[in-house]
Amino acid sequence: MPDNLPSEHHDHETLKFPEGFLWGAATSAHQVEGNNINSDWWDWEMKNQPPEKRSGAACDQYRLFEQDFDLAKSLNHNAHRLSIEWSRIEPREGEFDEAEIKHYVKVLKYLKSLNLTVMLTLWHFTLPKWVADKGGWENGATVKYFERFVKKIAPEIAEYVDLWVTLNEPGVYIYETYIAKSWPHSNKSWFGQIKTFLNLTSAHRKVYKFLHYLFPAGKPVGIANNILSFESYHKHSLSAQIAVFLNDLFVNHLFYIFTKGTHDFLGINYYFHVRFKDKNWISQRIDMAPQTHDVSDLGWEIYPEGIFDVLTDLADDIPIYITECGIASTNDDRRNRFLISYLQEVARAVRTGVNVRGFFYWSLIDNFEWHLGFEPRFGLVEVDYSNQSRHIRPSALVYADIIQHNGIPHSLLRFIGHTVQAEEVLEKRYKEIGKELEGG
Ligand code: BGC
Repeated sequence: MPDNLPSEHHDHETLKFPEGFLWGAATSAHQVEGNNINSDWWDWEMKNQPPEKRSGAACDQYRLFEQDFDLAKSLNHNAHRLSIEWSRIEPREGEFDEAEIKHYVKVLKYLKSLNLTVMLTLWHFTLPKWVADKGGWENGATVKYFERFVKKIAPEIAEYVDLWVTLNEPGVYIYETYIAKSWPHSNKSWFGQIKTFLNLTSAHRKVYKFLHYLFPAGKPVGIANNILSFESYHKHSLSAQIAVFLNDLFVNHLFYIFTKGTHDFLGINYYFHVRFKDKNWISQRIDMAPQTHDVSDLGWEIYPEGIFDVLTDLADDIPIYITECGIASTNDDRRNRFLISYLQEVARAVRTGVNVRGFFYWSLIDNFEWHLGFEPRFGLVEVDYSNQSRHIRPSALVYADIIQHNGIPHSLLRFIGHTVQAEEVLEKRYKEIGKELEGG
């Protein structure tokens, strides 16, 4: 049992989280910075995507980072997860751009000046084009290139980093690249897929060891892994049960099995609940959005119980951070229900003894959703791409309220399951705490 577990309480005011809980939001460099012209994604977008689906200036966070971090701070966040862009730092093989290194030092220093805990991702899907041209993660040498990059950058930024994430979602990368074939370097072989998996596990192990060797009394190192909640529609169907078992093994556990002993925490990105039907072994014909469930703008089912399931399933003797969890929706009322109901399930997991230490909502601001372009709106803060202005959504204030209480106030809990306008919830809530409804 974690020692920072909130003591059992019987008041009906607030559903409390453990003391020192990290509250924040997550982003990744290519999705927010803009103009990552030396990356494989940029090259692929220019050749394969229509203009409106290219990252272009994205959210221009490369220039506007101070403004965005100030917003996070003003919304009570005490932590922030972001990534650095390898293709900016090493645009050509072995050539490190000192100006870009300085830029990232400035970015991270700024976060620390706001007293935010910094979780830094070293690789979030994009590669320098020169690395991709040599075969990307299929090429064993990429492990060495990545290690060299980390050896260069880590000493420069380590003092501003509190938690390291070596890799973001190796499984999603492999799925989107090799199975769905929607991302750069598609059309490659099964063999390539296996090589990519093994090279990613090796890259993680090597960088983990390096970071601990470099900083013996160092900061925790882990990965952010996409963890799905799998279940079967037919409890007595052998094929559906086998499908659940195999998918759980491959998607949720395999990377950890291959990298055992090199995780100081588990970083969980939670988005999906998947049910298997009879006679559906490992195929992708799965029902992710049953009629009875609320869905996001991307058709992803809203299923709060799933986060409880994955947390209790993955619980180990190391801390867990929810490194990503969020919803694409232009209906902010839906985002409010999402936030409150998912966090309620996280609190339930904490109560049962799962050592959850933080939650990073995806995402702080609307951003570039990879091959889908800018349409999905995940942000707590809306971005008007015509002029790069930011507009705080009401859900950002609900989240700020939760953070301020380090828990979910009863008045917010009451709204789960009801269709109420976000503004209504907030007006009432802010009347109670004597604040004005601002922003947006
Ligand atoms: C990724 C993000 C992505 C988010 C929403 C996660 O799989 O880490 O880059 O934007 O999901 O799809």
